Amino acid sequence: MKRIRKAVIPVAGKGTRLFPFTRVIPKELYPIIDRPVIQYVIEELIDAGIEEIILVTGRGKHLIEDYFDYTPDMDVHLEQFRKHSLLAESRKIADMVDIVSVRQKQPLGLGHAILQAKRVIGDEYFVVALPDEVFAEVNPTKLLVTKWNKSSSPVLLTMEVPEEMTSSYGIFEIKSWINNNDFYVKKMVEKPSPEEAPSHFAILGRYVLPPEIFDYLEKTPRGRGNEIQLTDAMDALLKEKDFVTTVYRDGFRFDVGNKKGVVEAILYFSLNRPDMSDEVRRVLSTWLK
Ligand code: G1P
Repeated sequence: MKRIRKAVIPVAGKGTRLFPFTRVIPKELYPIIDRPVIQYVIEELIDAGIEEIILVTGRGKHLIEDYFDYTPDMDVHLEQFRKHSLLAESRKIADMVDIVSVRQKQPLGLGHAILQAKRVIGDEYFVVALPDEVFAEVNPTKLLVTKWNKSSSPVLLTMEVPEEMTSSYGIFEIKSWINNNDFYVKKMVEKPSPEEAPSHFAILGRYVLPPEIFDYLEKTPRGRGNEIQLTDAMDALLKEKDFVTTVYRDGFRFDVGNKKGVVEAILYFSLNRPDMSDEVRRVLSTWLK
């Protein structure tokens, strides 16, 4: 049976919305309690059956690769102080998944970033996961991969956003609803103004894409923000392939590329972690009195 084995995570972005933290530390390593946001994303991907991660990196991002590598100095320390559970956790992170890095040498946009993974992906369907988004309770990649198993089409994720937010997202024009939750796409527009937006359904940061997307990315001219946009390449590919889009429901999504989103994520995960929940609830209820 065919499977989706590879996922691309573009991590070359500068993360200015989390400035000054991102002056020296990659935004993907922003901690949600005690682990970086990218670990939440990679755990989601593994849970959905992904076996190989392709990081599209840029200058100053080597700490991300180090995080998922062995840490001999730390291990010696943990052994010496008999911190066996931490040692086991450390090894688990290093053994979590195979990571391949490719470099995006110029900041030419998301489409250009994904194009750098062409040779590593080869001729198979793959996942794209944007590390600015962390999800809880419903695994969005699993949702997309399950749909792909049935349809063998590209599959995208969406949610409805308020009208004034259309200019922060790629926006879908709907061709037809397949059922209450899924639709076929007629068109995709990158970050339209509310007046231009064909709907309020936004492209979220999880995609199941076919290898043909690379041919389209190679031909895609610079679009919004003078960058090569993944949305424009997908829109062009619509001529050749139907795209199924599924609405993300019943779970939580955090935009951890900005300050408000990371605060929400930290609150959510600390209120839901057995080792922290009681204490956080107690502190919050005292403060909120
Ligand atoms: C990117 C995509 C956009 C999508 C968004 C989802 O934009 O270009 O189509 O809606 O991710 O988070 P970015 O947020 O990287 O500017």
